[in-house]
Amino acid sequence: MKRIGVITSGGDAPGMNAAIRAVVRAAIGRGASVVGFTHGYEGIIDDEAMPLDSISVGGIISRGGTMLRSARSKTFMTEDGRDRAVGVLRKHELEGLVVIGGDGSLRGALALHDEFGFPVMGVPGSIDNDISGTDFSIGFDTAVNAALEAIDRVRDTAYSHERIFVIEVMGRQNGFIALEAGLAGGAEAILIPEVPYSLMEICTDMKRAAVRGKRSSIIIVAEGAARASDIKDFIEKNTGFEARQLVLGHMQRGGSPTAFDRVLALRLGALAANRLISGYTAEMVGVDGVKLVSHPLSYVLSTERAIDPEKLLLAGVMAQ
Ligand code: F6P
Repeated sequence: MKRIGVITSGGDAPGMNAAIRAVVRAAIGRGASVVGFTHGYEGIIDDEAMPLDSISVGGIISRGGTMLRSARSKTFMTEDGRDRAVGVLRKHELEGLVVIGGDGSLRGALALHDEFGFPVMGVPGSIDNDISGTDFSIGFDTAVNAALEAIDRVRDTAYSHERIFVIEVMGRQNGFIALEAGLAGGAEAILIPEVPYSLMEICTDMKRAAVRGKRSSIIIVAEGAARASDIKDFIEKNTGFEARQLVLGHMQRGGSPTAFDRVLALRLGALAANRLISGYTAEMVGVDGVKLVSHPLSYVLSTERAIDPEKLLLAGVMAQ
């Protein structure tokens, strides 16, 4: 393979730039050339091609977001949209495409392969870390650390004013960020969509803790479990304690990637380019412990990633 394309798609994630850099430089190392498209699948359809050489991906490793921009394309979800996209890829004489993104973006890649026989390679890029076939997706570590910094800051003021704080973190379908940041931040309760919880029990626990002299608490809630404002109102009503809410929102998605995310992105980006150029297709690269792996996209996308029960248990024990 002598010519490949690359896009970033879906929600941006810190480390995507490092992954683009790795795809480009690894491909060049193999004697191949790379064309990027801005705005993900939408940009392929609209032919927003951008030749990428070694120089054009210089100076981006430390930058959050993605130099290729990103989008969630509605047009690509239609058969006609995908047909147009493949037409553009073929017009540029591209022999394969690296897709850096989350679940929906990887599904798009698989559709290109299944419907048109177009060679694709997926790289997991999402702060949510909800993708099977890899222990970590690019951006998760940075997002968790961003949330953690906010939790640590809030704990100082929560302690001083003896208040309850409800902090809402990202995760519409899952609680990976909430659990990780909640554990690291010593949260008194972590509410995630995967696990049923009783707010009344949490209120009772807080009242008991207050008798023991503990007068401030941090509750982490994943956006898919409940809204921070509703939890805060419930707590105030049922405990009489003063509570405040904080929605962290998109600040978790921005910022310079951590060393962990940069190195992960470099390893996964380079592996993806190398495997695609070597003729592998319809796979997603990932990490299993310290080892690099690559799994069929069909397996990755049909397997649900579960919350680690050991971490859940630990969160419960630590909150006592
Ligand atoms: O998938 C990444 C993510 O940040 C989720 O955690 C969040 O629910 C969603 O994207 C937010 O999407 P948008 O940026 O479109 O509001």
